[in-house]
Amino acid sequence: MAPPPDRPPRDQPVARVGRAPMHVGRERSGPPERRSLAPRSATITVMIRAVFAAAKSLKRDFGEVEQLQVSEKGPGDFVSHADIKAERTLRAELARTRPEYGFLGEEGGETKGDGRNRWIADPLDGTTNFLHGVPHFAISLALERDGEIIAGIVYQPISDELFWAEKGNGAFIDTPNARSRRLRVSGRKDLARALVGTGIPHIGRGDHPAYLRKLETVMGKTAGVRRWGAASLDFAFVAAGRYDAFFEYGLAPWDVAAGLLLVREAGGMVSDDAGLPYVLGGPSILATNAGLRDVMVEVLA
Ligand code: IPD
Ligand code: CA
Ligand code: CA
Repeated sequence: MAPPPDRPPRDQPVARVGRAPMHVGRERSGPPERRSLAPRSATITVMIRAVFAAAKSLKRDFGEVEQLQVSEKGPGDFVSHADIKAERTLRAELARTRPEYGFLGEEGGETKGDGRNRWIADPLDGTTNFLHGVPHFAISLALERDGEIIAGIVYQPISDELFWAEKGNGAFIDTPNARSRRLRVSGRKDLARALVGTGIPHIGRGDHPAYLRKLETVMGKTAGVRRWGAASLDFAFVAAGRYDAFFEYGLAPWDVAAGLLLVREAGGMVSDDAGLPYVLGGPSILATNAGLRDVMVEVLA
């Protein structure tokens, strides 16, 4: 059998690997520490490597936050440095293999690239949680090509859950206990039994009275509403069937780019809150399983 090429051709699915690879050490579609049963393209592999590198420093910094929590100044400045550092790592790692791609990051803004390909990244989604020592935050990374999101990753460094999707190839989760399990949105159609995620506006953000009117209706018609504070993970939870729907107002492109692909590739729907096509960075977003979209649009009207 011919030896494998040093690097897989760009964007071609690489062969399946898993617990029992065809030849040990031969085919490696993911970082060595996490092999996958699902076919991953070279692009997703590059993205996972970059995200794992950034997660290392975030995890270390999260440990420090607990110490700083008790200091008078608090961990504020320290945290704002943590996300800048993580974004620098993402940029550097991705530029090594895709120097021609553009980059839009929450911390460093836009770097122009070849005009076709652009990474969209939130190096730390869930900053408020991080700042308060709440272990619910993520790195969100997507690849946009010709204006369309074609790959996305949301990684939760503390739970070590890796959610990833490629357009047309499905959405998957890797956990410490399970490799590349396919993600599917829930099949629930009854709103009264639905669990709905949201983002609640806070001081200085959003139209509070308008939001409260919507929340009140959702509260009265569903089994429960959750606000966990990291939008990228909210989408991942819809994709995984943990939430049946998620809605929020005023999210930025880096909050949603990876997550919306996860939901769509898991069989769910993403639109604005009126059921119209969602435009990246638009004022409202609604992600649901396939059965609850119309009823959620009605509720949010
Ligand atoms: C925030 C989180 C939060 C959402 C906010 C976002 P950040 O991102 O995703 O869940 O409600 O609107 O800004 O600031 O932690 O990256
Ligand atoms: Ca964010
Ligand atoms: Ca952020």
